[in-house]
Amino acid sequence: MTESAQSHRKDEHLSISAKLWRNRSLPKIGATYDDVRWLPNTFPEMSVSDVDVSTSLMGHTFKWPFYIEAMTGGSNLTAKINTQLSQIAAKSEIAMAVGSQSIALKEPDIRHSFEIVRKNNPTGFLLANLGADHPLANVREAIQMIDANAIELHVNAAQELVMAEGDRSFYWLDNLAEIIAKTPVPVIIKEVGFGMSQDTFKKISALNPAAINVGGANGTNFSIIERRRNHLNESVNLDNYGFSTVESLIEAKIAKNDLPLIATGGIENVNHIITSLMLGASLTSSAGYMLTTLLEKGQTPLLEEIYAWQQALPRLMTLLGAKNIMALQKKPVLYSSELQNFIAQQKASQ
Ligand SMILES: Cc1cc2nc3c(=O)[nH]c(=O)nc-3n(C[C@H](O)[C@H](O)[C@H](O)COP(=O)(O)O)c2cc1C
Repeated sequence: MTESAQSHRKDEHLSISAKLWRNRSLPKIGATYDDVRWLPNTFPEMSVSDVDVSTSLMGHTFKWPFYIEAMTGGSNLTAKINTQLSQIAAKSEIAMAVGSQSIALKEPDIRHSFEIVRKNNPTGFLLANLGADHPLANVREAIQMIDANAIELHVNAAQELVMAEGDRSFYWLDNLAEIIAKTPVPVIIKEVGFGMSQDTFKKISALNPAAINVGGANGTNFSIIERRRNHLNESVNLDNYGFSTVESLIEAKIAKNDLPLIATGGIENVNHIITSLMLGASLTSSAGYMLTTLLEKGQTPLLEEIYAWQQALPRLMTLLGAKNIMALQKKPVLYSSELQNFIAQQKASQ
């Protein structure tokens, strides 16, 4: 079967993003995880066995505070990757999101590349994924396709505007309000790597979704990916645009957001997970790093790395004196002067 242009685009996203991660060609945007330091805690007065790393949000208790973020499905190659990722998610008992299912609504032949994720992981927590412009009927179909426990609706204006064939019109708020009111599973509003500002948090808060995925910069960069797909001929360049994941989490605090937060964007080790939780996230996820590890090293090395993160989490929480995620979220951190500057300016602009 010959694949459609949309299938081909999925494969291009995959190969270009893996290459960018492999070569570390990811520009630094704003404050990074290195701008946030943990305070030394000389007397933990607790044991590793006291730690509970589970986290509760969206009416569910997640055994681990991280998951595999939305990437693939929609082509034969990505079917293979979804197969491998879902086997890893099932074994390690972490949640997993699929990539945008928009293609499967148009091309039923390719549904199998998504359905395999539920087949391989009958009892796991799975997140469906669609763009924020989809009508309620599509949202219901995407959920049903993988018997999803929640759905992510991605908001990706920057990516679309860089993309040669992307959308040029964005009226999402009314549609999101309807979907949130009528969807049978929790709805997450999710950026794809450009982050969110305090104004955005306030607008989302009015919609009252089950959670917000801040999808910050400093990891996968869809401006670079889309520009490379078009051989760098695009008229719009947003390679340095956006707020990092760290900055987006701080923006949520400044906006007094009280919806559960998911941190995604540039997470490539367990320390990044801990820092994200300390900055207020309840859950974290990783896309590009997991993908590159899978493609470069293979399925077993990625599974082993996830096991290593699972082993490290309670040890690091012990060091910080946090018996659970809620305690970790209350621990103080130290900001670099660059980040302090960001905070001062952003507080002043409120
Ligand atoms: C190959 C690839 C495909 C992606 N496709 C989607 C998608 O279909 N829907 C979506 O919401 N996000 C998509 N993303 C964005 C990720 O879910 C995530 O928000 C972003 O990559 C930032 O996280 P990272 O730095 O850990 O990669 C994709 C990312 C990658 C690397």
